[in-house]
Amino acid sequence: MKKLMEKIGEELVKAFETAGYDSSYAKVTVSNRPDLCEFQCNGAMAAAKQYRKAPIQIASAVVDALEKGGVIGEAEAAAPGFINLKVNPEALSEYLNQMQMDQDLSVEKAREPKTIIVDYGGANAAKPLHVGHLRSAIIGESIKRMGRFMGHHVIGDVHLGDWGLQMGLIITELAERKPELPYFDESYSGEYPEEPPFTISELEEIYPAASARSKEDAEYKEKALTATFELQQGRSGYRALWKHIMTVSVADLKKNYSNLNVDFDLWKGESDVQDYIPRMAEYMKDAGYAYYDQGALIVDVKEESDTKEIPPCIILKSDGAALYTTTDLATIMDRMEHYHPDEMIYLADKRQELHFTQVFRCARKTKLVDGDTGLTFIGFGTMNGKDGKPFKTRDGGVMRLENLISDINEEMFRKIVENRSVKDKEAEGTAKIVGLSALKYGDLSNQASKDYVFDIDRFTSFEGNTGPYILYTIVRIKSILTRYAQEGGTLEKGVMLPPVGESEKSLMLSVAGFNTMIENACEEKAPHKVCAYVYELANQFNHFYHETKILGEEDQKRRASYLALLDLVREVLETSIDVLGFEAPERM
Ligand code: ARG
Repeated sequence: MKKLMEKIGEELVKAFETAGYDSSYAKVTVSNRPDLCEFQCNGAMAAAKQYRKAPIQIASAVVDALEKGGVIGEAEAAAPGFINLKVNPEALSEYLNQMQMDQDLSVEKAREPKTIIVDYGGANAAKPLHVGHLRSAIIGESIKRMGRFMGHHVIGDVHLGDWGLQMGLIITELAERKPELPYFDESYSGEYPEEPPFTISELEEIYPAASARSKEDAEYKEKALTATFELQQGRSGYRALWKHIMTVSVADLKKNYSNLNVDFDLWKGESDVQDYIPRMAEYMKDAGYAYYDQGALIVDVKEESDTKEIPPCIILKSDGAALYTTTDLATIMDRMEHYHPDEMIYLADKRQELHFTQVFRCARKTKLVDGDTGLTFIGFGTMNGKDGKPFKTRDGGVMRLENLISDINEEMFRKIVENRSVKDKEAEGTAKIVGLSALKYGDLSNQASKDYVFDIDRFTSFEGNTGPYILYTIVRIKSILTRYAQEGGTLEKGVMLPPVGESEKSLMLSVAGFNTMIENACEEKAPHKVCAYVYELANQFNHFYHETKILGEEDQKRRASYLALLDLVREVLETSIDVLGFEAPERM
């Protein structure tokens, strides 16, 4: 369905033409003076130069030429030459009635759906999931949902860091603690045990211990590097151990991600593309893209227009080892072969920008991707504590995601019980749902590239620009709808009447703007725009609610109209938060 603004634009185009002016001046925008009008056109000012007339003359002529009875209800020429517009209330309710019948809520889905891979999460197996990976998961999940909402075929890949030094460290530490295990015996030729020789909590203790020791003990570090190398070369006992590490660690990651309402289609990782590396390096050499420099195989990726130096992309180190760049390039090869994506979107800390610049340029130059394959990096800022420094636990350690979530849920539980509108049994489940909204909204409402302050108190508040406030609003609407049903009312579609009051009209206008907002937010991959929209819509609803007797309205038709509007507001809010990656409870 056409956007409301497009319809207004079309009427304006006709009026410009009728008045004898070029229709390219008939551009409409949302008003920046909501006290005066709802939409505006500044085209008369621009046209003034071409026609050598006073802008106000042109504006007045256009206003006079507007046809009556369309989407534009009121129009006014204002000095020095603005055209101020108000929507015809009847056209507005008609628009919303159609929107309510349309299962896509008037959003035009992609005509040619694209295949898009979103690379997010990026956890490192065997290391505890910490808040550094939180943003990637939260923002990536929303970007994935946005793409799907617009009708694209979107594949989410967690792209685990599962092949690095952490594995060698764990192997080395285990070898010290339990040297009797068969994994370390090179002459062992039997089957390895099926049961992992550790639990997740042991694993979580082993890695930090090994990592700390390697920083002080050079010999130990050397052993870990050797173990990593041997693992990558295929030493069978180490491979078997690695599989155990992966099984235990992935099971734990799945649990954690599922608590965040984040799920991946692909659980691939750096280890999956090892077989591509020799082939890729050969190809790059043979085709003349890569050459040896001081023993390392490199591809130049600098460009003339660079203002800062972009170092060459290292494909293989002088000892033949692969790097982070190497696996990312090999992964691109794998993805192109298996999924033929039109676009790949990567979520990572913005400090990885240079890495992705090198990888993308190298992939283009060496033609690992097609000329029109999109490669997009979304770099996010740091989550800081109230002291403005990267978020830490109270004793200065790295905060585990699990603990962070339970801190939020506890605080949420406390606030919900304080509110006492929910029975205790239910409160814990509700606290989880609302807590997730607090966490995700607190993150997503900021532009991704910016740092933000993680503030449990503010995020869990029922007031202000927070997740719980949005959910509270949805729950409020649901409870009115439920009461209506209990009183024997049934919801009808297509029964919205033209708005009577200002607050009702503003609310309706915001609802009508859903398609414009969501298309734009998806295009720009900007979840914060969805947050800004739901906040505004929730505010407008609450304003309307405080001014209006809804269930107490005596005029049957008017009441049915209010309830249809409420149900549409609920649907738009719930659709929006689903795109953001959380949901509303039934009660709060
Ligand atoms: N595992 C990486 C890290 O912890 C993030 C991976 C991002 N994705 C990628 N394809 N490089 O920093």
